[in-house]
Order: sequence, then structure tokens, then C-alpha cells
Amino acid sequence: MPSYKLLLLPGDGIGPEVMAEVKRLLGFLRKAGIADFETDEDLVGGCCYDAHKVAITEETMAKAHAADAVIFGAVGGPQWDKVPFDVRPEAGLLRLRKDLGLFANIRPAIVYPALADASSLKREAVEGLDIIILRELTGGVYFGEPKTITDLGNGQKRAIDTQVYDTYEIERIARVGFELARRRRNKVTSMEKRNVMKTGVLWHEVVEEVHEREYRDVQLEHMLADAGGMQLVRWPKQFDVIVTDNLFGDMLSDVAAMLTGSLGMLPSASLGKLDAKTKRRKALYEPVHGSAPDIAGKGMANPIAMLASFGMAMRYSFDMGKEADRLDAAIAAALAKGLRTADIKSEGATAVSTAEMGGAIVGEMERLAAPA
Ligand code: IPM
Ligand code: MG
Repeated sequence: MPSYKLLLLPGDGIGPEVMAEVKRLLGFLRKAGIADFETDEDLVGGCCYDAHKVAITEETMAKAHAADAVIFGAVGGPQWDKVPFDVRPEAGLLRLRKDLGLFANIRPAIVYPALADASSLKREAVEGLDIIILRELTGGVYFGEPKTITDLGNGQKRAIDTQVYDTYEIERIARVGFELARRRRNKVTSMEKRNVMKTGVLWHEVVEEVHEREYRDVQLEHMLADAGGMQLVRWPKQFDVIVTDNLFGDMLSDVAAMLTGSLGMLPSASLGKLDAKTKRRKALYEPVHGSAPDIAGKGMANPIAMLASFGMAMRYSFDMGKEADRLDAAIAAALAKGLRTADIKSEGATAVSTAEMGGAIVGEMERLAAPA
């Protein structure tokens, strides 16, 4: 049985609760003889700040570099609102992304048949939806320098964030987008604000060039990011792969998540460049949702985004596409049985806890894995 090394970073809020369901799934995969995952677990975010006064320790960073994949829960909460900016909970996640070089963030938005009515859009607008937001994750305004607040001395302060993109950063994310599209419906929509931003002008130019040079077989269209946001809620099925920068991708992926009925449904994969020697990419998998402090500790959180994120790990890091498909089918089956966590609760459905939902999904996995 193949064996892989995982670093689990549950983090804050509902992070540990949803991570517990990944552990349940790992237990099943091991017991069923499908794969053995050697796991190590560590602190990140607010809980790490409480213990070590930093958002992530050097030891944990070293473990992240050494792992086959990092499985990340969520970070943050109101109790850390006042900690210094450099060590705020989110800094741990941003450092992982940056230091591991995880430039490609794949955020699929898939509407499960049983959930088409949970969306705030009409059923016909979202039924069967299957799109990907591909977000650039290590550049742009998240990391650009200078990033400062200066006291101007006259009772005024000045805050500066810097949006910066180099050609190579746009090229490599565009390539990932075209490659993804080739295995799907062969269409890429690139979103930027070239009518206002220089980074948008360059983004547009470079995506065009990569397309012209290497991917003429893929359909490419461009949209200004604001219009793209509007189209995303008007008729999301027009899209296949949306490729966009770090900040627009952050916002558009929350919008896309809501099309599926709840933020609790959307998984993500963050991948680095292909290592020529090992043929693998550094990778981190995390749900798109945050730490949801308001419901933390209540056993109410939806574990589907976290479990589906592990599904993406099976698909992208461990060559376990069949198991990943089976997990998707198990999630769909649990939903089809009417099981709903509070965030996707609808009339006539059975409200279940995090553990009940996780247990039901792993149970369906087991059923689907059993020889007929
Ligand atoms: C996300 C989150 C993060 C981001 C936060 C927690 C720093 O919103 O992954 O979408 O802004 O990238
Ligand atoms: Mg976000």
C-alpha cells in the first residue's frame, strides 16, 4: 500500500472540527488498504500565536517543506484582532503559500444536484454548474512592496499596498489555466482591470501571448473583473476556467462559493511548480471558508469543503483519481439522502452535526468501495 507524508494544520475556529473528519477518512483509507498516510499535526494561526507568539513556527515551516502535502483547516478569530499585523493568524497561511511557492490556487465551484435549491440563485442558473476559479496566489497586492502605513505628521496617515506582477508570474498561472481547460470544456476566461490598472494591461497582454504561442486550441476570452463578477452571478454556466489575480480571485471565489449554496462546500488546492526531479508539486489543500468563530465548538460546521479539499489532494498529489471520484460520489450520496449541516439546511432535510455528516460520507465511501 502506498504511503505518503501529510502535515495537518487544523488552525482555529471550526478548523479542528472539520479536520477531525479528514482524520476519519484517513482511518478508512488505511483500514481498507487503499493508502497509508503518515500524519504529523501542528499549530498555525491564532492558536500558534497563543503558544509561540508567531503565526507559524520555523519547525512547522520545515515540516511543511518536507511533507508530500499540507492539509490546512482555517485561521483567525476576533480574539486575535489586536495582535501585531506581522503575526496575525492569516500571516501563517500567507507564509506557507509564499515560501512553498504555491502560485496556483484551484477553486472549483460545483453544484451537487441535491443542493441546487440551496443557492441564492434560481435553480436553472446553477443546476449542473461546474466551473473553476484559478487564482494567482503568491503575487499581486497580497505580497507587493511597499506595504506600509506612514504617519504624515499632520493628523493624517497614508496607507500603501502595492499591486505588482512580473511576466513570468502571469505566464505560469495562464499555463495552468489552459492546461486545466484542455481537460475540461476547453475555455478560459481571463479577468483583470486593464481599464484602470497597469497590472491589468500586462496581465491581458501576457495571457494573450501565451495563448497565441502555446494554446491556440483553447478558447480564450477576456473580461474586466467587475463585469466578470456580474456575469458570475448572472449566468455562471457560461464559464469553464476563470483565471485571475490574487485579490480578484479572493473575491470572485467567495462569490462562486455562494453559487453552490454555501461557503461550506468549496474546496481548494494550492500548487507550486513541477519539480523536474520528483515530478511532483508542493501542495496545500484547504477549504475556501474561514474559521467561522461564531459557530466554532458547536459541532455545526459543514465538513464537506474540508473533505473535498482532501479529495483534491488525492487527485492532484497522490494520483488517486478513482478514490477522489468515489469521495465526490459519497458526498453527493450523503446529500441525496437529505443530510444537511446547518449552513445548507432546507425544508424537509435532516439537520446533522459535523461528525454525523463526516461519518455519513465516510460510510458512503465504504459502501461504494465494497466489492459488488
Ligand atoms: C482565502 C482567505 C485568505 C485570503 C485569508 C484568510 C488571508 O480569504 O484563502 O480566500 O485572503 O487569501
Ligand atoms: Mg478569501
